[in-house]
Amino acid sequence: MFEIPTSTKQHDESRQGEALLLENDPKKSNGRKLYIESYGCQMNFSDSEIVASILLDKGFETTRDYKEADVVFINTCSIRENAEQRVRNRLKEFESAKAKNPGMVVGVLGCMAERLKSKFLEEEKLVDVVVGPDAYRDLPNLIEQVDEGSRAVNVLLSREETYADISPVRLNTNGVTAFISIMRGCDNMCSFCVVPFTRGRERSRDPQSIVKEATDLFNAGYREVTLLGQNVDSYKYEALTFAGLLERVAQVNPLLRVRFSTSHPKDITDEVLHTMAKYENICKYIHLPVQSGNSRVLKLMNRTYDREWYMDRVDAIRRIIPECGISTDVITGFCSETEEEHRDTLSMMDYVKYDFAYMFAYSERPGTLAAKRYADDVPEEVKKRRLTEVVDLQREHSLQRLQTYVGKVHKVLIEGLSKRSDDDYCGRNDQNSMVVFPRDNRYKVGDYVNVYAEKCTSATLIGKITS
Ligand code: SAH
Ligand code: SF4
Ligand code: F3S
Repeated sequence: MFEIPTSTKQHDESRQGEALLLENDPKKSNGRKLYIESYGCQMNFSDSEIVASILLDKGFETTRDYKEADVVFINTCSIRENAEQRVRNRLKEFESAKAKNPGMVVGVLGCMAERLKSKFLEEEKLVDVVVGPDAYRDLPNLIEQVDEGSRAVNVLLSREETYADISPVRLNTNGVTAFISIMRGCDNMCSFCVVPFTRGRERSRDPQSIVKEATDLFNAGYREVTLLGQNVDSYKYEALTFAGLLERVAQVNPLLRVRFSTSHPKDITDEVLHTMAKYENICKYIHLPVQSGNSRVLKLMNRTYDREWYMDRVDAIRRIIPECGISTDVITGFCSETEEEHRDTLSMMDYVKYDFAYMFAYSERPGTLAAKRYADDVPEEVKKRRLTEVVDLQREHSLQRLQTYVGKVHKVLIEGLSKRSDDDYCGRNDQNSMVVFPRDNRYKVGDYVNVYAEKCTSATLIGKITS
């Protein structure tokens, strides 16, 4: 869940922490201002909406300027070392604001809080409160403890917490697209990954609360929901599987588009693919992280599928949903990866021709299986060179995929004005490609339009409305 330049908003730990602005409710204000900034995957952004909801309920108001805040929260990511470094740098920037306003409460939330626990308080003197992803209900109480003069930590992980009953306050929203967390945690233990340690055991959220959230969003004018989980295919609530849940959300309204992320190659079933094919409003797009194209490396990564299995899943997607867009995540330079094994990743990319990819050089994370068992022995410059090769190849494939969409009509949900020009609208097609086209006042944000794609740049289709 974690950059995107434009595509699946989930994987985006490079995002420079967006500040969130809430609807303030003056009736029950406690006169204190909250500032919250998020890093990492969409799960974290989604959690910040839960945090905001909990504190709004206690009378907090919000601000976009941390300098005027009474409580400053940073919701953090641990996925790679540079994600953590970014957070440390940002904390330094908060120092002068706190020096001017010593009553300011500074809190670290999310995955880095969970990983470092009370060590954070020793390492970063300005931090008053450290809260892990399953302890947000405790925030009002923890802030109170800080007000009383102590520093506070709650990093307990839970087997049950899904925040199912909390209505997230939609932040930084375009009013059209929203994320819904359908599960938390991860049980997979991929050897490179810190998430099982920072987010705890996998648990699925009650489907009724998910369907209700989707229905409420639709009634509030939203037209697209993305169901979020580290491995949505292992969603299970009593007898309900992910395919069943997807169907129930698709049935909320034919005008509500449904997306989801992330799919795990070992778990994605033909049943899910058939459900996607059956409902026009389930977008034809799958994020299917491959990590490596080599079976030996995949085994070391503990991904529990091999090259052939992954190719079979891609073949099934192409067979059942021929028009489906596919994106991926790739790690270069994992422990002991040889040049030949790296070339298997390149050939896998040639095989699939991904629409889009998130690509990373391997970064060893303390406590993970790989850190314990394998030497991080691929030199940094080799990891980087391999990464460059992967990035260059993906750039070609992204362009090739977009070119196959040129000359066709696409159903696009208008998400807003284009970043470049107020004269243009932007939105996505089913395959999650960004489409830009001249504004037409007969249509507004949240409407569906048919757009004829005339040409493309490396990441965007450019066209005009045909209906
Ligand atoms: N649950 C998702 C991924 C979550 S993390 C899945 O299973 O695919 C998002 C991506 O970050 C991963 O897919 C992986 O490509 C990358 N990543 C995770 N740990 C990493 C590490 N230690 N070094 C480099 N990249 C990593
Ligand atoms: Fe990490 Fe693997 Fe879980 Fe994804 S499935 S969050 S990569 S352990
Ligand atoms: Fe997401 Fe980063 Fe945590 S990718 S789950 S915020 S480690």
